Amino acid sequence: MPAQRNKTEDDITAEVLQRFAETPDPRLRQIMLGLVKHLHAFVKEVELTEAEWFQAIEILTEAGRMCSDKRQEFILFSDTLGVSMVVDLISHRKPDGATESTVFGPFHRLGAPELPAGGNIAHLDKTGTPTLVSGRVLDLDGKPIKGALLDVWQAQSSGLYDSQDTSLNGLHMRGKFRTDAEGRYLVRTVRPVNYPIPSDGPVGRMLRATGRHPWRPAHIHFVVSADGYEPVTTHIFDRTDEYLGSDAVFAVKDSLICDFVLHDAATSEAARACITPPFLTADFDFHLKPAAEHRATVLDAQQRLAALGAAG
Ligand SMILES: [Fe+2]
Repeated sequence: MPAQRNKTEDDITAEVLQRFAETPDPRLRQIMLGLVKHLHAFVKEVELTEAEWFQAIEILTEAGRMCSDKRQEFILFSDTLGVSMVVDLISHRKPDGATESTVFGPFHRLGAPELPAGGNIAHLDKTGTPTLVSGRVLDLDGKPIKGALLDVWQAQSSGLYDSQDTSLNGLHMRGKFRTDAEGRYLVRTVRPVNYPIPSDGPVGRMLRATGRHPWRPAHIHFVVSADGYEPVTTHIFDRTDEYLGSDAVFAVKDSLICDFVLHDAATSEAARACITPPFLTADFDFHLKPAAEHRATVLDAQQRLAALGAAG
């Protein structure tokens, strides 16, 4: 007589773990065994019902259907569950002095134009307050890094990214800037605003059902990279924002909070950029640490995601 199979929940867990135990790649084996162990423990702890299990399948199906080259519902799930920030903290244990990273978010798009210093990423935004963001890219000893690349993106003053704005066709509020010999960069934009993350899908329903708000504090996104250094994916945040303490995606770090200073009188820098008062300035230096080894970056993954979205 054959042995009894699948008698208890724990029997199933043990058998599934045993089935993955011979996975040849050690890292994949570690991940699969950990995934099965924790996933089974979660289901047992909350005593998931069949109806709830089916609801989860429907939610994941809907999330997948929503994804395109302009929408990434799974990144939103990861961000709002705090998983993105846990991964970020594990992946970027920086030495003191290196600029801290934060979430990549779902709104980066490939193909932003390369702009000269002072180039305006907000040329179609007629309602935002003109803002000059400047600073330097430096190594950990404070030495300027020439030719560093800053990939910058931001929501419009309406609170929408270009990909969410049906009145726009192409890219807007995006640009790539290079540092000069002194490591300096200069970006012309408009004041960043706080905005709610997209809430017309399953992530929005989760936030409403759990009594959470969808707001993100005002910020500008950067990926800063240079040959020989580890790239940093980060934001700068407006110090005056009311949502700094309750960011829907948990991305705020104290070192990334920045003063956006209001000017009522002209300055030579503003005049050179053809900006009349009132306008704002923000000053932020990025510090890169040397690259230990070549590691796949978030932008490598973004290339693959974009290809998937374009195909979908
Ligand atoms: Fe954002």
